[in-house]
Amino acid sequence: MMEASDLRTDRLILRRWRTTDRELFARMNADPRVMEFFPARLSRAESDTLVDWVETHFAERGFGPSAAELKDTGEFIGFIGLSVPRFEAAFTPCVEIGWRIAAEYWGRGLATEGARAVVECAFSDLKLTEIVSFTTEGNVRSRRVMEKLGMTRDADEDFDHPSLQEGHALRRHVLYRLRRD
Ligand SMILES: CC(C)(COP(=O)(O)OP(=O)(O)OC[C@H]1O[C@@H](n2cnc3c(N)ncnc32)[C@H](O)[C@@H]1OP(=O)(O)O)[C@@H](O)C(=O)NCCC(=O)NCCS
Repeated sequence: MMEASDLRTDRLILRRWRTTDRELFARMNADPRVMEFFPARLSRAESDTLVDWVETHFAERGFGPSAAELKDTGEFIGFIGLSVPRFEAAFTPCVEIGWRIAAEYWGRGLATEGARAVVECAFSDLKLTEIVSFTTEGNVRSRRVMEKLGMTRDADEDFDHPSLQEGHALRRHVLYRLRRD
C-alpha cells in the first residue's frame, strides 16, 4: 500500500518498513561486504533493534531512514533516508542522510537515485536548511555517493567517531555537508 510519505524514483519506492523487511535486513547486516566499514556485523536481534529505533525515529520526528524497494520486483534492498544522530560532536545537532544497500545491488546507481529523492524532500517538504553525511575515511563507495549528491567535505571537520575507541581502525571520519541554497 502506498502512503503519502512514500517517495518514488525511476527504479525505487522509499517507504515505511514492513515486518517482512526485517529478515532481509538482518541478512544484509550479517554480510561482511555490507558491514566492512562498521565495527561489527549484527545478530538478528541487533538488526531488529536497529529497525525498532528506525520506527521510533519515524514516530517521533515524522521522517527517518526509509525501506528501499525495487519497483520492478517489489524486493526490499536496504534503506536510504534521514536521521538525527544519537551522539554529540562539533556538528550536532544535525540531520544526516545515510544508506545501506544489499551487496547484490551495488554499482547500479540505486543509492544515489534514492538519496537524490530524499535530498529533494528534505529541502522542499521538510524545509531543512542543511543536511550532513559522514563515514569512516576509507569508505570510498559511500563517499562517492555523497560527492555525486553535490555534498562537500572540509577536511578541517574530519572527526573521531565518539563511539569508537582510540586506535580503532574505523575511528577517523569525514564529514560532508549540503546546504539548501
Ligand atoms: C555505499 C552504498 C550504499 C553505495 O550503494 P550503490 O547503490 O552501489 O551506490 P551508487 O551505485 O549510487 O554509487 C556508488 C559509487 O561508488 C563507486 N565505487 C564503487 N566501488 C568503488 C571503489 N572501490 N573505489 C572507488 N569508487 C567506487 C561506484 O563506481 C559509484 O560511483 P560512480 O557512479 O561515479 O561510478 C553501498 O556500497 C553500501 O550499502 N555499502 C555498505 C553500507 C555502507 O557502508 N553504508 C554507508 C555507511 S556511511
